[in-house]
Amino acid sequence: MTRVFSGMQPSGDPHLGNLLGAWVNWVAMQEDRECVYCVVDLHAITSPAEHDPATLAARTLELATGMLAVGVDPQRSILFVQSHLHEHAECTWLFNCVAGFGELRKMPQFKEKSEGKGDAVSVGLFDYPVLQAADILLYHADEVPVGEDQRHHIELARDIAQRFNHRFATPEAPVFTLPKAVHPPAAARVMDLQDPTVKMSKSASSEKGIISVLDEPKRIEKKIKSAVTDSAGDIRHDRAAKPGVSNLLEILAAATHREVDELAAEYDGGGYGTFKLAVAEAVIELLRPIQDRYAELADDPGEVQRVLADGADRAREVAVPTLQHAKQAMGLLPRG
Ligand code: TYM
Repeated sequence: MTRVFSGMQPSGDPHLGNLLGAWVNWVAMQEDRECVYCVVDLHAITSPAEHDPATLAARTLELATGMLAVGVDPQRSILFVQSHLHEHAECTWLFNCVAGFGELRKMPQFKEKSEGKGDAVSVGLFDYPVLQAADILLYHADEVPVGEDQRHHIELARDIAQRFNHRFATPEAPVFTLPKAVHPPAAARVMDLQDPTVKMSKSASSEKGIISVLDEPKRIEKKIKSAVTDSAGDIRHDRAAKPGVSNLLEILAAATHREVDELAAEYDGGGYGTFKLAVAEAVIELLRPIQDRYAELADDPGEVQRVLADGADRAREVAVPTLQHAKQAMGLLPRG
C-alpha cells in the first residue's frame, strides 16, 4: 500500500494555507493509503524569533488537536510528535554525511529566513531540510502531501534517498524509498490577503492578511471583504496580472471542490463585492465543522496526549528498523 508522511510546525496558529495546501490532502489520503502525520516540534526550534520555550509544549498539543479536528483519524493513521522519537535526530546525522553544503545553501526557505542575519543564523536552520528528509525517509513514504512552498525540500529528500541508496545499497535492495510531493489542484500556494504576491504565512507582519483556522465567522468575513484585489473589476484567473482575484478564486475552488475557470465564468461581471461574499461564506462553511470539533477535543487534552503517546509507539515500530537498516548499510558496528 502507498505510504504517506507529512508534518507541520507548531509555530503560530494554523491558517487557511496550511489547511488547503496540506491538511485537506492529509485527510483525503487516509482513505486508501497508510498515513503518518507529525507535529514537527524540532523544526520549530530552528529560529529564535519563532521559538518560545514557554509556549512550545502548549502549541504542540494545540496543533495536534487541530490535526484531529480537521479529520486525521488516529484509528487509521499514525499521529505523533517528532521529538518523541530520537530516531529523527539520529537519522539526520547520517544524512548530514550524505547531503551537500551547496544544495542546502540554495534552499529557498533557508535563503529567505537567513537573509540579513549573517553569521547569526543557526546551524539548525541550515540543516532543517535534512531533518525533514529524515522525517519522510524513516517511514518509506512514497507520497508527501504539502503546499507548493515545500517542493524543494521534498526534492532534496528524494536526492538524499537516491544518493544514500547508490552509495550504501544495491538497486535490488534499496534502503530508502524515493518520495514525491503531492499538491492540491487549487490553493497549493495560498497568498496573503493583504499582499497577494507573498504566501500566507504564520510569520507575516500583519494578521489581517491571514485567516486562522480558528477565526470567528465575522472576522473571516471582514478579512476577505478587505482583501486586496485590483481596480479592473473583472474576475479571471491570472496570477501575474491579477494576484488578489486569482488567490480568492483558488480559495473558493478549493473550499467548494469546484474548478477555478468555472467559478471565474460564474462570478465575472457581478462585481468584487458579491464575489468576496461568496468566498467568505465558503470559507466560513469549510471551517465551521473543524472549529466545532476543535472545541470538543480541546475540552479533553488528556485524550489528545494519549493519542500522541500511542502514535509515538506505532511510529517507532516503523522508524527503528529503518534506522537500524541505514546504520548497518553505512557499516556502523551493531551493539553486541
Ligand atoms: P509548515 O509548518 O510551514 O507548513 C505546513 C504545511 O502547510 C503548507 N503551507 C501552505 N500551503 C499553501 N499555501 C500556503 N500559504 C502555505 N503555507 C504553508 C506547507 O507547504 C506544509 O505542507 N518544513 C515543513 C514541515 C515539515 C514537513 C516534514 C512536511 C517537516 N518535516 C516532512 C512534510 C514532510 C514546514 O515548515 O511546513
